[in-house]
Amino acid sequence: MDGDNPICSMSASNVRSSTIRDFLNDANLPGMISLAGGLPNRELFDVSGIKTACNTVLHRHPEAALQYGATEGQASLRRELVSLMAHRGIDTTADTIVVTTGSQQAIDLVARALLNPGDIVALERPSYLAAIQAFTLAGAKFWTMPSDADGVLTDRLPNFRTGDRRPKLAYLVTNFSNPSGTTLPLARRKALLAWAVENKVFILEDDPYGELRFRGHRIPALITLAAEIPGAERWCGYASSLSKIVAPGLRVGWLVLPNKLSDTVVRVKQALDLHTSSFVQEIAAEYLASSALSDRINLARERYRQHSDALVDALDNHLHAELTWNTPEGGMFVWATFKHNGDTSTLLPIARKEGVVFVPGIAFDPMTESRNSMRLSFATAGPAQLTEGICRLARAISEWRMQT
Ligand SMILES: Cc1ncc(COP(=O)(O)O)c(C=O)c1O
Repeated sequence: MDGDNPICSMSASNVRSSTIRDFLNDANLPGMISLAGGLPNRELFDVSGIKTACNTVLHRHPEAALQYGATEGQASLRRELVSLMAHRGIDTTADTIVVTTGSQQAIDLVARALLNPGDIVALERPSYLAAIQAFTLAGAKFWTMPSDADGVLTDRLPNFRTGDRRPKLAYLVTNFSNPSGTTLPLARRKALLAWAVENKVFILEDDPYGELRFRGHRIPALITLAAEIPGAERWCGYASSLSKIVAPGLRVGWLVLPNKLSDTVVRVKQALDLHTSSFVQEIAAEYLASSALSDRINLARERYRQHSDALVDALDNHLHAELTWNTPEGGMFVWATFKHNGDTSTLLPIARKEGVVFVPGIAFDPMTESRNSMRLSFATAGPAQLTEGICRLARAISEWRMQT
């Protein structure tokens, strides 16, 4: 014990550092091709559209933008989010939406509102790293749900008996998951809801990527499907964000939850930050009210489709003997796994020397497994760079095989 320094809480000390944030520095090294960061492509930011929205807000209603606001969020933004959700087939009203500071805060709020230290959270394997961090901070223990290339294997979920220790919360990214790129099929979504009702497990569906579908057809969200399954509406909530479709710097996300949980979340948020920036919320509302968003989303879909195709073609051409991977229908990620054993965290330093970085699978696994996998992001690098990045990765793998 270091008596001269304050002692951090156990839950704070247990939070693993974000390997991805560490890699963001590597990504900026001259000549480095980064397949590591999960940042949206900055060329997709609608700078002039946001500038116009910002000027309009300051011109037309500065008092709403510059004053303290309601913890639930600005009325203008909540109304716009209702329309955005309607496009996703989700039927809500403004008073059921809680605006959050990014969907990261949405996850944190649900964790704080629901979990006692030692409560179990069910996760996909692999799972979004910063959600693992938020649940760890709440003192959670983890249970991984059996999963395959389409996400959770719902027919393998156990039915808990009275008195069994069971998860209190299950967290899933249903569309183009980070990191695995998988999308949960319709039948599994319904089965998951039925399981949640039967076993009294609250499901938080996190959907920051759903709009970025560049192939196939939209699958209804869990909260849409919940209307068909008796009791399910009380056992699921929905989180989303403007980060991947407008800009992450806005830090605008939102939650739709059953009433009682929503009230608790609002009280918790009050204690955390009073409310998400009213200025930014008004800008976001103004931007959503303009017709700019749907064009931007179409642009993003087309761009990410080209990037995804370039990455998958390069994997086909250079690494089919070594790796298996999913071909994503949207989003920003490909999850690649060695056919034969191999720890991708030992490959990384060699890849870095070759001028390419990725995130080793171990970073996304609460049980620190998934060692033989890696997350490859196709959002930031262009098609030519992605192809070159995979050539470098192939060279690094040859060198690494010779050493191991
Ligand atoms: C699955 C998932 N959820 C939540 C977030 C947090 O996003 P934000 O807080 O910017 O909305 C991210 C960011 O990468 C993500 O991938």
